[in-house]
Parts: sequence; C-alpha cells; structure tokens
Amino acid sequence: MTIIASLLRNAQLPDSPSERLDAELLLAAAIGKSRSFLHTWPERIVSSEDAETYASYLQRRRAGEPVAYILGQQGFWKLDLEVAPHTLIPRPDTELLVETALELQPASPAKVLDLGTGTGAIALALASDCPAWQVTAVDRVEEAVALAERNRQRLGLGNVRVLVSHWFGSLAGQRFDLILSNPPYIRAEDPHLGEGDVRFEPSSALVAGSDGLDDLRVIVAQAPEHLVPGGWLLLEHGYDQAADVRALLTAQGFTEVASRKDLGGHERISLGRLAC
Ligand SMILES: C[S@@+](CC[C@H](N)C(=O)[O-])C[C@H]1O[C@@H](n2cnc3c(N)ncnc32)[C@H](O)[C@@H]1O
Repeated sequence: MTIIASLLRNAQLPDSPSERLDAELLLAAAIGKSRSFLHTWPERIVSSEDAETYASYLQRRRAGEPVAYILGQQGFWKLDLEVAPHTLIPRPDTELLVETALELQPASPAKVLDLGTGTGAIALALASDCPAWQVTAVDRVEEAVALAERNRQRLGLGNVRVLVSHWFGSLAGQRFDLILSNPPYIRAEDPHLGEGDVRFEPSSALVAGSDGLDDLRVIVAQAPEHLVPGGWLLLEHGYDQAADVRALLTAQGFTEVASRKDLGGHERISLGRLAC
C-alpha cells in the first residue's frame, strides 16, 4: 500500500527542471484528481492499479518525454488543449501573439488567419475571446489539422474553420484583417534540437532552414496579397531574430514595424501593417 506523499517524494526525476511539478501532474492524472487534491490528502492510499499507471508515466518522463505528451493535454491562454506528437506543444511565450492581436482591436467582425495552427492554440484562443471574429486556421500537416479540429469541436467554437494548407496555398483570393503565425524558426544545426522537450517534437514544427528564417521569409513575402489595406501581420520568432524579421517586414513595404518582448525580456514577436 502506498500513499500520495511517498509516491511524490520518491518520484526520482533528477533530469527534469521541474521535478516536483511533473510528479504532481503525473500522479494527479494517474488517480484522476486535481493537484490540489494531492496537497489536501497526502496520506490518501493510492490503488495498486493507479500506482502502476503513475510508475509508467514516470518511466516515460525519465526517458525525456514531455509531460504534455504523456498526459495528452496542455493549457494555453484560458483553454485546455489536446496535444499530440504531430505538432508543437503550445508555449506560454506564444500568448504574447494573442495578447497583441487583442490590443490591436481590428474592426469587428474581424477576419483572422492563423498560419501553422498546430493544436489550434492561437486561433482557438482568439475565437473564444472574440466570438464575433471569423477565424481561419491552417496547417500543412493533416494530423495537426485533425487535432485542431478536435480541439475546436470540444470547445464548441463555431467561429473557426480549420484547413489543410501549405501557408497561403489553399487561400487564393482571400484577405484578412489580421494574420498571425508562430512558424518553424529554429536553425537546422541548432544544438538545442537535441535537448529537452524539443527532442520529441516534430521537425516540421521547428526547423526552418540554415538560418531559421525560411518560413518567415515566405510568410512575409506572401502576406500582402492576403491582407486588407491597413491589415496587420504578427509573427513569433526566435529570441535573436527580431532585427532580421523587422528588416524583412520593412523591405516588403510594411509600416509601423515593431517588436515586443516576452516575459523573459527577449524580443519574441514582430509585427507590421499593410499600408492603407
Ligand atoms: C512552431 S509550430 C506552432 C504551432 C502552434 N501555432 C503553436 O503556436 O503552438 C509550427 C506549425 O507550423 C506548421 N507548418 C510548418 N510548415 C508549414 C507550411 N508550409 N504550411 C502550413 N503550416 C506549416 C507545423 O506543422 C506546425 O504545426
């Protein structure tokens, strides 16, 4: 017989940067309760079946698998999203794109496009906060589109459509008030690809050529054809790519080009406006 407190104490996840939190999330999932239940009832006995489930989760975590993939879910903005190994686990930094889009206050009902939607994180966050907006979410990876569509349905968001598209490929002739993207932006040779959670995430969601800018270049070049006059393009990028992305936006004729910092103080997104 084992109690909650001793299972947490003996989790043994020395390689995890968040050992205690990981153990709590995994045990809470294994016993089908919340983390606060663990804190309230540390002496509660865990059934041998649940303890085995927890042990199998810990084993996967020790092998480096992200907690979000083990649990199949991740919080983003105000939403709980299903996640899967076909696409990126949504990151808190990406909430800066959502915040900035909301601050720009495009005329409602705005037409909004999320390029490379993955789980649907950006599109679904905006659609849930702004029910009048019409949001289109695209991804090249069919499994990601199916995942975003499942998240859309579970959240009951009727103002989002999810499509397979290679960037703007399926959107000929369509224009938007706001285009957002968190595209792949890691350099192919970046050593971080061999570390931590990203080892388990697909390169289709991460890598963009030798300088990490291949996809950002395509999006900046093609966006003017898909924005209304005065429409905004908002892009997430690497912590050291802001100057390059601003230069791309300026060269393409965007105005009001600027970058914004994430919570870590890094310039994490850049934006520009199509001239009116
Ligand atoms: C960095 S992930 C971002 C996922 C999600 N937007 C988020 O912020 O969590 C990039 C996404 O772009 C998609 N992607 C990569 N190349 C693409 C392309 N050419 N056209 C459309 N989507 C693409 C990937 O499949 C992946 O889901």
